[in-house]
Amino acid sequence: MENPFSLEGKCILVTGASSGIGRGIAVACAKMGAKVLLSGRNEARLQETLSLMSGDGHTVLCGDLNSEETRKEVVEKIPDLNGVVYCAGISQIQMAKRMEQSSLEGIFQTNVFSPLMLNTLLLKKKKIKKDSSIIFISSISGVYRSQIGEGGYGATKAALTGYVKSLALELAAQGIRVNTIHPGVVETPLLEVSNGTFGEEELEALRQKYPLKRFGKPEDIAHCAVYLLSDASSWMTGSNLLIDGGFTLK
Ligand SMILES: NC(=O)c1ccc[n+]([C@@H]2O[C@H](COP(=O)([O-])OP(=O)(O)OC[C@H]3O[C@@H](n4cnc5c(N)ncnc54)[C@H](OP(=O)(O)O)[C@@H]3O)[C@@H](O)[C@H]2O)c1
Repeated sequence: MENPFSLEGKCILVTGASSGIGRGIAVACAKMGAKVLLSGRNEARLQETLSLMSGDGHTVLCGDLNSEETRKEVVEKIPDLNGVVYCAGISQIQMAKRMEQSSLEGIFQTNVFSPLMLNTLLLKKKKIKKDSSIIFISSISGVYRSQIGEGGYGATKAALTGYVKSLALELAAQGIRVNTIHPGVVETPLLEVSNGTFGEEELEALRQKYPLKRFGKPEDIAHCAVYLLSDASSWMTGSNLLIDGGFTLK
């Protein structure tokens, strides 16, 4: 029987592929038969992702997507795509009363403006084929819940959710589907105590609030992405796929 979840014959661009969730998605896409274009800034870590991937014909695209020049170079280099996963992103904890425009602009640049402008360029250059699937990695934050200091980050993720609704309508005539994935906390370098986003005790207390008593793993999110990129989800567009170990139930 044909596997509806197969990505055989598909070419997929994954941003943020040098780390965490993006790395997990790239590895899972390759396992399901796709050729993957890996985008990130850190060449060594992109090569590390590549070394974890099965199959051949994958390509590393190193560069800062906040630069318009880099985005143009990336789009010039890539072949026609069957799927795109916009996963590159940063987090930020900042109280509203101390918010500075420069840091707000910084997080909006990485999490919203760069992926949206890359998407515009890919569409203008007709790099996204008919019947493709586009995924934006959002978050539970800003859409389903929040915490003090997450206003800026949550606002960027809510912005993606709003954008996707319209994009899904705009591209439906070409059979191109657009969805968001909203993960709860996932074990990645974004979470590391050294980043200062969370302290050790705070992280453990938060873990215990998850009904399934664990944070997500990059593979958990990668399996959602495989579903949305594959023909198994061919009637799904404009949706927000929540995956959070039951956290938002309470
Ligand atoms: N971890 C979680 O709990 C969680 C939960 C919900 C949603 N998310 C979202 O999931 C996505 C991935 O998060 P993660 O936890 O996997 O983070 P991560 O391990 O820190 O990885 C972030 C990725 O984004 C790339 N990136 C950041 N800025 C970039 C830029 N200007 N140009 C190109 N690439 C850039 C990084 O590239 P380099 O390392 O090469 O610089 C890296 O590959 C983010 O959008 C995040 O908001 C994460």
